[in-house]
Amino acid sequence: MFRKITTLVAAAALSSLLAAGAAVASDPITIKFSHVVAENTAKGKMANKFKELVAERLAGKVEVEVFPNSQLFGDNKVLEAMLLGDVQMSAPALSKFSRYTKQLQIFDLPFLFKDMAAVEKFQSSDKGIELLTSLQKKGLVGLGYLHNGLKQLSSSTPLRVPADAKGLKFRIMSSDVLAAQFHAVKATPLKKPFSEVFTLLQTKAIDGQENTWSNIYSKKFFEVQPYITESNHGLLDYMVVTSKEFWTSVPDAEREIIKKALDEAIAFGNEVAAQKSVDDRQKIIDSKRTEIIELDDATRSQWVEAMKPVWEEFEKEIGKDMIDAAYKSNM
Ligand code: SIN
Repeated sequence: MFRKITTLVAAAALSSLLAAGAAVASDPITIKFSHVVAENTAKGKMANKFKELVAERLAGKVEVEVFPNSQLFGDNKVLEAMLLGDVQMSAPALSKFSRYTKQLQIFDLPFLFKDMAAVEKFQSSDKGIELLTSLQKKGLVGLGYLHNGLKQLSSSTPLRVPADAKGLKFRIMSSDVLAAQFHAVKATPLKKPFSEVFTLLQTKAIDGQENTWSNIYSKKFFEVQPYITESNHGLLDYMVVTSKEFWTSVPDAEREIIKKALDEAIAFGNEVAAQKSVDDRQKIIDSKRTEIIELDDATRSQWVEAMKPVWEEFEKEIGKDMIDAAYKSNM
């Protein structure tokens, strides 16, 4: 009798162990992709494309959940959350990594890249790829760069020459280089999350901000900013990141398929970014709510001259060889 009961208990234990094992084996891996912009932007569309490709290729094994518009985390918290395993992927602006690496600050230097072709050339060079790995010591893996575009200055008063910015308050991303850039024109920079910018502008708590045509349009900043100076003075690009812990936990075969899907989604996102820079600029012009101030060569040179000393200020942290390499990508 005793032997019979023991056998039954052992059989039950074995079957529940097998059931638990089967459940673990069949549970899909979930990738929570958190970002702060609207879905109808390069980053929003890239994330949704990635979700779609993974669903097609790894159905039942891996699923991607996308959280746009800072629904899950703002950029100031997302990397911390990633290291804690609360989110698996994100694509913060390159300006938002300075707590983790100083080298990526290169992308914030004013007037470093003359156009997006130069940005692309630098990012795909050996030095650009070296920067993608600069977060590894902090437990983060850079999976690829994604474009948004060049930034413009929006404001409540017209900004034609650098002296016009004197004394004004500008919202910036959490970057010391961007702070130095506004100090260089005697303005006051304020580091604030993206999700707060519209209200800060609308309530006139700040006078202006810098952003791409796509973000100015999709977040309606142009509705509360009567002037936009087409300065193209800086870059807003992203790095798609994950945590080393998560990335290495994914089986090799699936990881390869996920990476390929992501590369394709990024290529698609970059096409969207290029198109939006043109289309969203035009939509803002068509709205007639904002005056676009174009800079001729002489006035643009004044902005360059005022802001360029920032390069030297950060040369030590970034590396002169890195800055020289980036600058050469303009040629
Ligand atoms: C983003 O494009 O992800 C946000 C940029 C910003 O914070 O200004």
